[in-house]
Amino acid sequence: MSVHTGRHFLQIPGPTHVPDRVLRAIDRPTLDHRGPEFAALGHEVLAGLKPVFQTRHPVIIYPASGTGAWEAALVNTLSPGDRVLMYETGQFAVLWRRMAGRLGLEVDFIPGDWRRGADPAAIEARLTQDRAHAIKAVCVVHNETSTGAVTRVPEIRRALDRTGHPALLMVDTISSLASIAYRMDEWGVDVTVGGSQKGLMLPPGLSFNAVNDKALRAAKSARLPRSYWNWEEMLAANEAGFFPYTPATNLLYGLREALHMLQEEGLENVFARHARHSEATRRAVRAWGLEILCAEPAEYSNSLTAVVMPEGHDADRVREIALERFDMSLGTGLGKLQGKVFRVGHLGHFNDLMLAGSLCGVEMGLALAGVPIRKAGVQAALDFLASAASQGKG
Ligand SMILES: Cc1ncc(COP(=O)(O)O)c(C=O)c1O
Repeated sequence: MSVHTGRHFLQIPGPTHVPDRVLRAIDRPTLDHRGPEFAALGHEVLAGLKPVFQTRHPVIIYPASGTGAWEAALVNTLSPGDRVLMYETGQFAVLWRRMAGRLGLEVDFIPGDWRRGADPAAIEARLTQDRAHAIKAVCVVHNETSTGAVTRVPEIRRALDRTGHPALLMVDTISSLASIAYRMDEWGVDVTVGGSQKGLMLPPGLSFNAVNDKALRAAKSARLPRSYWNWEEMLAANEAGFFPYTPATNLLYGLREALHMLQEEGLENVFARHARHSEATRRAVRAWGLEILCAEPAEYSNSLTAVVMPEGHDADRVREIALERFDMSLGTGLGKLQGKVFRVGHLGHFNDLMLAGSLCGVEMGLALAGVPIRKAGVQAALDFLASAASQGKG
């Protein structure tokens, strides 16, 4: 293993770079999580998360990775044998479906080709067929991290409304929160699942459920066993700024700082920055002569771009070279995309020159791996970034 100098380029689509400000905030003596000082921190982060989810409803914080928040969303609202409708956008949808099955739910899984978001028309068709309202929840992944395709959540909401179907709408925003526009209340989402380690610029270890009144009503009669994930106990303790068990105290210091940073930049500017970096990345991919995995331009992800390898070339070889030679981590192809794509993360604490450096590493890595490309990708991205800068965009 060679010795590297300078900063590692962590270009996976999460965990993302943790800003120095957030690292400094975490680096503090641990405090008594049942003492008066903690309550102020608890209140501040619980309130400060709401604008990030664009909700006036409670946001629950778990000391868990995103998978925990997936489970919490299901076990708090559903009963054994309940039917849920899910859509195969990619590997994360597959994993959430597997979890639902393990918990004893009946999953109606609409197949997808891993190149686009969930199809509102297909969901509407299933809901129309379900006259008895057996389906209790529709669960979609907003930004499918394995493919770089976004689901148009407002259109899924309209599909529910047009059919008059009462199912809950649950959305996984683990790789879209604080990166891609998301408006829980305006879009009529009942449960939002989030995580700390991507757009929120924190280390892994916190995850979230934002829950509206309809979801809370469902929780009253839901019968799946739940203990650690129980919303009711959590919300009761949160009233006073506390948690029913030991919270991840130092990560909450980091969360407070990250929320300040997002507020200083302004969420709309955060979204515009992510849009600019994703557009620059796509221009690079096209100029290299490679294919973007997401097949629907209206559904391109602003958090990451998955790049398809030409036949006979291994994406993991490109990743290996980028790591060994340039100290850059790129995202691997997940599930059935292993070896076929690599993913460039461009979310979180990130700027134009970090993106430029990353794309240089990708272009050199591709060339060293013998992938036939035009060496024009970096230039295309730089031209776009420079023109956006001259127009004052983002
Ligand atoms: C969209 C999405 N959902 C769920 C998860 C699972 O979260 P975790 O790995 O934090 O448990 C991830 C992780 O990357 C994700 O990207």
